[in-house]
Amino acid sequence: MSDVAVRKQDFKDVYNKKDCSLYYQLCMHDVWGDDRFETQSFYVESVLSEELLKVWQKEMNKPLNMIDVLSGYGADTLLYTRAFNKQDFAKMWGTPENMYNIHKPLLFPVKTFGCDSSKFALQYGIDCGIYDETETVDFNNMTPENESLLQHKCREANMLTTNSIGYLHDGVFEKFVDWFAEGTAPGLFVVGLAFPFEGVERGRVQKRYLLEKLDFFDSLSVVYRKPTKSEEQLFEEYRLCGRMAYETWYLTRRCEQSPQNI
Ligand SMILES: C[S@@+](CC[C@H](N)C(=O)[O-])C[C@H]1O[C@@H](n2cnc3c(N)ncnc32)[C@H](O)[C@@H]1O
Repeated sequence: MSDVAVRKQDFKDVYNKKDCSLYYQLCMHDVWGDDRFETQSFYVESVLSEELLKVWQKEMNKPLNMIDVLSGYGADTLLYTRAFNKQDFAKMWGTPENMYNIHKPLLFPVKTFGCDSSKFALQYGIDCGIYDETETVDFNNMTPENESLLQHKCREANMLTTNSIGYLHDGVFEKFVDWFAEGTAPGLFVVGLAFPFEGVERGRVQKRYLLEKLDFFDSLSVVYRKPTKSEEQLFEEYRLCGRMAYETWYLTRRCEQSPQNI
């Protein structure tokens, strides 16, 4: 864990419920964490899918592969495959009768793979159709079998999304970057960074690592959540003025865009 993430509100119980209702209520709605999806969904629809993802999908003429790392109930999978915004989450995750009913179509044909330590969150994602496949993995204690599966999934992915990387032990995030960079097809690596939870010094080191292995495409900063009661002092210490900023980095795989790589 990053030095700052240990002071984050402990949401472990919330991550391990049989559906996303409590996660939506406590981590998104009550702390205004769902605001981030407004700008991000607009960016997915107007930039990422138009300039990269739909283009790659048409060129390859097969569904894209997506891996969501630390995926939980699949908020980022819904964002990047269906442009879910704040109202969409309220409609699906904030309304008990809609919890298993995805009301928005895919932006492009895609196969989704979720991986997280919460088997309940992953099962929910399978049951309602957010994920096509999942794997329950504790990334801080991976077996050789876990590593080999994830290396394969990262290499074949045309999109990898992740956030909450402050939970990972030193060196784990770098493994995902390495595995993704080893792939040969077009690929977009998306990492969401909530300052300062991923660690200030560590965050800087990780950004440099990303730039060594992948090509920078863009970054987007959006307004994120307010503190819980127990986080108020931490927010003051880091001069967060009541709301966190959530910075997303978008990087592309270095690969020849030749037909054999597609
Ligand atoms: C804040 S949630 C983020 C979920 C999702 N990416 C999103 O944006 O909604 C953090 C997730 O990290 C997972 N997690 C925390 N530590 C983990 C670990 N060591 N291995 C695998 N998953 C972990 C939790 O189960 C939880 O689902």
